[in-house]
Amino acid sequence: MSKPTIFVISGSTAARSSNRAVVEIIRQNFADLADFDVCEGVDLLPHFRPDADQAALPQNVLDFRRRIEAADGVLFCTPEYVFSLPGSLKNAIDWTVSTTVFYNKAIGIVVAAASGEKAMESLMLILTTIEARVEASATLIVKGAKGKIDQKGALSDPPTADALHRMMLAFLELVHRENPTPTKYA
Ligand SMILES: Cc1cc2nc3c(=O)[nH]c(=O)nc-3n(C[C@H](O)[C@H](O)[C@H](O)COP(=O)(O)O)c2cc1C
Repeated sequence: MSKPTIFVISGSTAARSSNRAVVEIIRQNFADLADFDVCEGVDLLPHFRPDADQAALPQNVLDFRRRIEAADGVLFCTPEYVFSLPGSLKNAIDWTVSTTVFYNKAIGIVVAAASGEKAMESLMLILTTIEARVEASATLIVKGAKGKIDQKGALSDPPTADALHRMMLAFLELVHRENPTPTKYA
């Protein structure tokens, strides 16, 4: 693999989003090391229904699955809502559970929130359950995110900027590690 493709899923649907700012910082700082395919609008996916999962699927659900499958790694950037994941992000992941698109997929996670531990815990549990490759070194909680990102969307806290850099290097190392089984979904 030369330059990997990373599918980026933002769990925030806010217009002025800390998580989207983090995605932009990553895109700018790591453009030489990876291509980023950013998923806009997890909230545009329909509500997951198991019965619908058996029938002809909406195009945006198919596209969402295809882009995960095509990527060499998936990076999540999400807030925490009421000690859990935002509903639209959980809904989006539910659409993948009957497939193997996440099987063995290298995962990076940034949770930019007020606190964030529960969202991180929940996302790691979900992703290990669906057999993605999740390692602690490729995860980061940006606590008090609103106070660490300035009006221009830059990280104003140097230790957080360093931690984000280290986390992204660990994630890209995970992406490059040999992936023995290519993913395929029916
Ligand atoms: C409905 C709602 C519930 C929230 N609940 C939590 C929470 O339980 N824990 C937490 O750390 N932050 C919580 N927050 C704060 C957000 O995680 C925080 O503002 C985050 O930076 C928002 O991300 P964004 O700017 O990318 O949208 C909540 C925010 C909203 C709007």
